[in-house]
Amino acid sequence: MKEKDRAKKAFWEEITDLVDESNFETTFFNKEENNTYGHFSSVIKEVKDGKTGRSHLVKIRPPLFYLNGLLSNLSRFISSTSSRKILDNDRWRERELEYLESLNPNIESGLTDHDNAILVENIDGRVAYDILREENLEWEKRFKTIIQIAEGLADIHEKDLYHGEPNTQNCIVADDGEIYWIDFEIEYHEDLSLLEKKANDLEQLTLSLMGAFEDEGEIGLTDEELIDLILDSYGDEETISHFLHHANIPLIGPYRIVQLSFTSAPRFYQAQMNLMRYINDWELDI
Ligand SMILES: Nc1ncnc2c1ncn2[C@@H]1O[C@H](COP(=O)(O)OP(=O)(O)OP(=O)(O)O)[C@@H](O)[C@H]1O
Ligand SMILES: [Mg+2]
Repeated sequence: MKEKDRAKKAFWEEITDLVDESNFETTFFNKEENNTYGHFSSVIKEVKDGKTGRSHLVKIRPPLFYLNGLLSNLSRFISSTSSRKILDNDRWRERELEYLESLNPNIESGLTDHDNAILVENIDGRVAYDILREENLEWEKRFKTIIQIAEGLADIHEKDLYHGEPNTQNCIVADDGEIYWIDFEIEYHEDLSLLEKKANDLEQLTLSLMGAFEDEGEIGLTDEELIDLILDSYGDEETISHFLHHANIPLIGPYRIVQLSFTSAPRFYQAQMNLMRYINDWELDI
């Protein structure tokens, strides 16, 4: 066998081993095996292409994923979120790959031999949450990141697509400064119009960006100014107006705190109150 073919075979065998490893025991009893918040949610593993040396990630849904998905959807329901995690693996792979390919055409992604796993190129960079929380980061860099992320969501919406869960952990700021959105396994209720889906995305992103800061004013902006910055950068008036008119701000938030990557529960309640105040003032103004 040629060296190239051997490397290719080893690459695919390694993926099979990783998928097989994500069995009941490792996912349930060994937390370190899993770099996500729930120990039976998706497992992300790195695989290196022996030939090119390029790093890829395998995103695996372990055997207990279905249970995780059901609990996650129950929590979404309690939090009055009109979005649901896709439980069917075929549908999940279809949406995840379709979105990765259309939004990030320069990033390799594809199917594996396993219906509970997909492959995606490892993007060199860090999730937006980590960048925004970085100590000693200059204000300009922080503002620039917020602006880029909000513009990035507008780019998705301009293509008449939506994200489903645009939080600061699902957005990677690459080392070269580009923004990449990942994790497309959430769909909104099918009865929602595209405008409603976009407005829901904008609501989630606004709260998630606010939630990346420990306290109001931490970055030298009041929450009102921060919301202004996010909405100005996002730009699409129709969606902004729909969001502000119909925002659904449930105060029952245990799940939303995790889902939207809030630094803490107190910040969640502070951000929700300030967003509600912002909406009230906006309604009085128009
Ligand atoms: N292509 C990628 N390049 C670099 N890092 C990635 C990539 N895909 C995922 N990651 C990292 O892995 C983390 C988890 O990935 P992802 O968001 O797709 O799954 P998840 O949040 O575990 O899904 P779930 O909603 O099931 O919990 C991301 O927050 C990010 O840190
Ligand atoms: Mg994620």
